[in-house]
Amino acid sequence: MRVVILPTADDAARHVTELIAGQLRENPRSVLGLATGGTMEPVYEGLIARHRAGLSFAEVTTFNLDEYVGLGPEHPQSYSRYMRERLFAHVDIAETSCFVPSGRGVPAEAARAFEAEIARRGPVDLQLLGLGENGHIGFNEPGSSLGSRTREKLLSHDTVEANRRFFGLGETVPETAVTMGIATICEARSIVVLATGARKAAAVRAMVEGPVTAMCPASILQMHPRVRVVIDAEAAADLALRDHYLRAEQIQSARDAKT
Ligand code: F6R
Repeated sequence: MRVVILPTADDAARHVTELIAGQLRENPRSVLGLATGGTMEPVYEGLIARHRAGLSFAEVTTFNLDEYVGLGPEHPQSYSRYMRERLFAHVDIAETSCFVPSGRGVPAEAARAFEAEIARRGPVDLQLLGLGENGHIGFNEPGSSLGSRTREKLLSHDTVEANRRFFGLGETVPETAVTMGIATICEARSIVVLATGARKAAAVRAMVEGPVTAMCPASILQMHPRVRVVIDAEAAADLALRDHYLRAEQIQSARDAKT
């Protein structure tokens, strides 16, 4: 794992935007794995700005991590709508190249169709991940099988409660989601995790320095050969080897600048 610690959340988001833009410059036909959530919003704003400055998404394919079961693409809280409003509608990507698991219909069928599409168009070149406070990636909550494929998952009680604020009074908050599986996520060629803020510090520590365990699904990323963890100072606060990562990154970025 390459751990990149930057002073602020803005710095961390800018770094991730640059990694994605670099991936698209290197391969304009890249397959990207995308995440939703508050942490990603500045990344998508950054990508839209890059697009206005000339970065093209015309040949890019995207796969989103997850969707709430029961929400259609027009629902204000659906991840399909999140992606359309925060990225897809503002760049030159083809609608037919954007895949979000379907929240409508039979979840097992939606999951099968999604996996089949990844098999057809993948592998994912760069998978973007956010991190849940409980260590989840996608909606693979603690206890999820580390060998899982895309499927319907029950959201943890804490996740349902955290999501409640986004839904109207009396509106039912979805209890399940179709999520890319942990094994599916790990098939990406490279993975970038973005986590910012003090609320993520414990999960960051468990992901980077804890044992590999289904109790912290993100810890499986320790087994992947190309993972970059991009965090701000607050999210890095609990890392035992924080100073070591800072030194390693100084050396590595000096080397990168020479090549
Ligand atoms: C979203 C997703 C989730 C979020 C995570 C962090 O597609 O899969 O794993 O990345 O819950 O969410 P925020 O950024 O809102 O803290």
